[in-house]
Amino acid sequence: MLKLRAHENLANTFWYQKENESEILLTLNYTPGHKAYDEKLLEIGGQEYRVWTPYRSKIVAALIKKLKTIPITPNSHILYLGAASGTTCSHLSDVLRNQGKIYCVEFSSRVIRELVQICEVRDNLIPILGDVRYPEQYRMLIPEQVDVVYSDVAQPEQAQIIIKNAETFLKSQGWILLFVKSRSVDVTKDPERIYKEQIKILKNATFTVVEVAHLSPYSEDHALIVAQWQK
Ligand SMILES: C[S@@+](CC[C@H](N)C(=O)[O-])C[C@H]1O[C@@H](n2cnc3c(N)ncnc32)[C@H](O)[C@@H]1O
Repeated sequence: MLKLRAHENLANTFWYQKENESEILLTLNYTPGHKAYDEKLLEIGGQEYRVWTPYRSKIVAALIKKLKTIPITPNSHILYLGAASGTTCSHLSDVLRNQGKIYCVEFSSRVIRELVQICEVRDNLIPILGDVRYPEQYRMLIPEQVDVVYSDVAQPEQAQIIIKNAETFLKSQGWILLFVKSRSVDVTKDPERIYKEQIKILKNATFTVVEVAHLSPYSEDHALIVAQWQK
């Protein structure tokens, strides 16, 4: 028997299970007939869904590991740092549909070309070519304060980068999702120590850390820190 059930905390996202198989995650395709990359499409009950795997999106690893705090709703306005070719942004676009929007910042002109193609089909994604270390570069392109800053960049100063962007763009009491790649911060240090250091930097910048999820075995030496700004 096939089973489809809505995700507990994330809109337009579903757990799906075929008999004798483990559950997978799907998002309801906001742009039926269009793929964003090489994801599988499934037709269930007259609706089109896109398979979302932890090997393509780190947030799926956190969802599989039962992350409880997911401060993303269909109305969210999100600043996404390190959008790459738009794989995760495209699924978050399914979550938001025509209610929210995502500003997708990426500094590689090669990968942003693919992102731009996805944004042409998905009207809730806005591509921005920029370096996330310098939010003043793209300040003019984001004419509002956002609800969430989402960061997935392999840079040594990951916490400092998200703080800088929060100071420029985040609403008071807004949320951050920081994906920490410990090896990008310091390959010689124990990942746990790196996560603690990143958390300390966030706390010093008046963030309350609400949840931390380790992403192994899907992404080794990665953790997601979910925090709320007390400003
Ligand atoms: C791990 S990939 C992101 C994958 C993407 N978040 C997803 O799940 O679909 C990290 C991306 O961050 C980008 N990046 C790294 N440093 C950056 C910077 N300083 N400014 C903008 N983008 C950066 C890289 O070019 C790369 O595309």
